[in-house]
Amino acid sequence: MKNSPISVAIDGPSGAGKSSLARKCASAFGFLYADTGAIYRTVGLAAYRRGVDRKDSAAIEKMLPAISVSLRYNEEGEQRMFLDGEDVSEEIRKPEISICASDVSALPVVRSYLMQTQRTLAKENNVIMDGRDIGTVVLPNADLKIFLTASPEARAQRRMKELQEKGIPCVFEDVLKDILYRDEQDSSRAAAPLRRADDAVLVDTTELNFDESFAAISQLIIERFCLQPDADNGVSPV
Ligand code: DC
Repeated sequence: MKNSPISVAIDGPSGAGKSSLARKCASAFGFLYADTGAIYRTVGLAAYRRGVDRKDSAAIEKMLPAISVSLRYNEEGEQRMFLDGEDVSEEIRKPEISICASDVSALPVVRSYLMQTQRTLAKENNVIMDGRDIGTVVLPNADLKIFLTASPEARAQRRMKELQEKGIPCVFEDVLKDILYRDEQDSSRAAAPLRRADDAVLVDTTELNFDESFAAISQLIIERFCLQPDADNGVSPV
């Protein structure tokens, strides 16, 4: 086993299941789970609350030194996001904040503002980090890179279920529209667009349920690092 911390980068479009799969894998293998989307969401929420135009780079740049974005892990190993000291972990999940996050994440000034936070997490911990540019920009030397994807319809279905479970009302067409908007914006932006790193393993979960997707990713981790998951989080064969 190498001496420096291990990093696993999981990138892919919205709703591919990155966060739930990364969270479960992190728990199974004893890694820290770093959800970088949550960090962008917190900046998006700050712009939303302050009424700052999310596409105006100069205005956002002016806002950044006036806000405090931080993350902490609670005793269960759950990442919590704080904006100016307030726990906003639930609020950043609202659909309107997803769009704000996508908007501000297209700005290079926001991306460089958040770079150090992400790299420090990986420098100090064995980490499974999910996002859009982790394998391409944030951790280009990650020990394992996975590009997780699924069809837009499958992703919209899953997002619907997630929102409904949280009691957030939603309509399939609107959820699909949001997914397509974010796909387009996240992939076509000039700054760190969503793309598969040349050395990333492609995992398409359109036809896989959660357990099958989890087993596929776990298998990659087992093979790459010769690690075994915690028995309590058993991995069934693919
Ligand atoms: O993963 P998510 O849906 O919570 O991410 C919210 C937005 O943040 C998404 O539209 C794209 C952006 N994002 C990004 O640009 N780079 C990352 N590493 C993570 C998220």
